[in-house]
Amino acid sequence: MTDYQTVTSTDATTGRTSSIKLHGPDGFAGMRAAGRLAAHILDELVPHVVPGVTTQELDDIVYRMTIDGGGVPATLGYRGYTKSCCTSINHVVCHGIPGDRMLKDGDIVNIDVTPIVDGWHGDSSRMYLVGDVSVKARRLVDVTYEALMRGIAAARPGNHLGDISHAIQSLAEGHRYGVVRDFCGHGVGQTFHDAPEVVHVGRPGTGPELRPGMFFTIEPMINIGKPAVKVLEDGWTAVTRDRSLSAQFEHSIGITEDGCEIFTKSLKGLDAPPYSL
Ligand code: MF3
Ligand code: CO
Ligand code: CO
Repeated sequence: MTDYQTVTSTDATTGRTSSIKLHGPDGFAGMRAAGRLAAHILDELVPHVVPGVTTQELDDIVYRMTIDGGGVPATLGYRGYTKSCCTSINHVVCHGIPGDRMLKDGDIVNIDVTPIVDGWHGDSSRMYLVGDVSVKARRLVDVTYEALMRGIAAARPGNHLGDISHAIQSLAEGHRYGVVRDFCGHGVGQTFHDAPEVVHVGRPGTGPELRPGMFFTIEPMINIGKPAVKVLEDGWTAVTRDRSLSAQFEHSIGITEDGCEIFTKSLKGLDAPPYSL
């Protein structure tokens, strides 16, 4: 059963059309529940992200908490991916695969979770600081979070997707950081990766006009160095080509009548470090 309308948008550069869903109250309720579980998992991970823990141990915690919270990890079995989250350390941009790697003092790590609850996908990620982190890395993390929030501030009816992209790009490039082009945010809901593509660089007033009921993620990846990335042999792990540090935050949001609702906001004020418990 479909309980949404759609609007058709045409990509200005490719000319391809895609249809963007406009969800109603049921969608908002579904995303609220899924987003709340994603936020809860990211909140509860805080005390576990310490020197000596392996990324597999973190994945085990994510799996357990997802199931206990009444969800299923969307990444498990997704296109051959076999883990419950992504753990992207230092120069890893995104899609780092949990494994034997131990976190060490000074690392920065992104943990990205996507629980499915009653068919709805709550997609969110945060950066965590492991022990004592350099000022340079902390600054990158702070600016990346601010970039996400500036993007979210531009997410309201009447604005265009390009206004979000532009807000992110201008802040990041103002700090002389590189904004990753190869990965983007996406429509989200009962589908994990849906239209539209939410790119993190762009010009104001371009792209589809935002309408109440649109659900999508914003998930800027920002590098201290150049934007270029490459994917490793494992087919997933994306790293900066210049090996510079990279950071990312992600929220799932829904456009409302007068702005947007963040479905994945922390329940404990732990949206960005420092996470003083
Ligand atoms: N959660 C990621 C996103 O933000 C997608 C991860 S897909 C995986 O879209 F297979 F790499 F886990
Ligand atoms: Co996402
Ligand atoms: Co994600």
